[in-house]
Amino acid sequence: MAPKVLVSDKLSDTAVQIFRDRGIDVDFRPDLGKDKAALAEVIDQYDGLAIRSATKVTAKLLDRATNLKVIGRAGIGTDNVDKDAASKKGVIVMNTPFGNMITTAEHAIAMMFAVARQIPEASASTHAGKWEKSRFMGVELTGKTLGVIGAGNIGGIVCDRARALKMKVMAYDPFLSEEKADQMGVQKVELDTLFAHADFLTLHVPYTEQTANILSRENIAKLKPGVRVINCARGGLVDEEALAEALKSGHVAGAAFDVFETEPATDSPLFNLPNVVVTPHLGAATTEAQENVALQVAEQMSDYLLTGA
Ligand code: MLT
Repeated sequence: MAPKVLVSDKLSDTAVQIFRDRGIDVDFRPDLGKDKAALAEVIDQYDGLAIRSATKVTAKLLDRATNLKVIGRAGIGTDNVDKDAASKKGVIVMNTPFGNMITTAEHAIAMMFAVARQIPEASASTHAGKWEKSRFMGVELTGKTLGVIGAGNIGGIVCDRARALKMKVMAYDPFLSEEKADQMGVQKVELDTLFAHADFLTLHVPYTEQTANILSRENIAKLKPGVRVINCARGGLVDEEALAEALKSGHVAGAAFDVFETEPATDSPLFNLPNVVVTPHLGAATTEAQENVALQVAEQMSDYLLTGA
């Protein structure tokens, strides 16, 4: 019998087509990602579950998933999957670490420009028929220091693009060797050095026990006055309340956030502050990236289900 896969989040048609072409019986039910009860009702029918970020794979859901062998996350972060519970049940969790890295890095760079030049506020004001030419004074990126926390796949691309913009780049990343940092043209530093020097600070680490609240109230107090903070990585890396206070006091000059402690974020201490640019977790939202991750997740899951590889 052909293995059965459920796609429970919005995923490009490419994924569905690949599963079919590989002889896998696939159900495309993006409505189930947000309907825990309905998903729990049907999950026992499937060998594979393909998701993005809306579906929450909890221990409770896994208890009902009696036939499940593989969970494929079309994207990078697997923080919506209880990986301990999955591994206890022998369910493989796979992601697609490369498919959306360029897109996410580009979003971080776009957010850096947006906050440096206050583009969203200037755009809203111009749309409103005001012509507030003197209100929106920006800063250049050239010659400024960018502090990158996490110089892996996405952070590494951000470093490369920032160097092309003639920024000085400092990176904090315990996994980055001095040799690799030299090749990348970045200065490997400790966190406190990065905090003291960065004019712009961008985060590119997953949310883990080690990185949770890495930009804590205490660390925000160490930031260089006038810094602009960009987070296109994960909510929970930054103390939003403390950052909002630092923005209000003027210690932090701006922030650009794509991710929030609670998502979907309908409220945040950062909302409605001047020079705070916010987007609804759009880091991976390009047609190219979504095609890439859909294709990769479908190929990987098919390989695993059909050959065990
Ligand atoms: C990811 O982890 O791949 C990104 O945050 C994108 C997403 O969750 O949609």
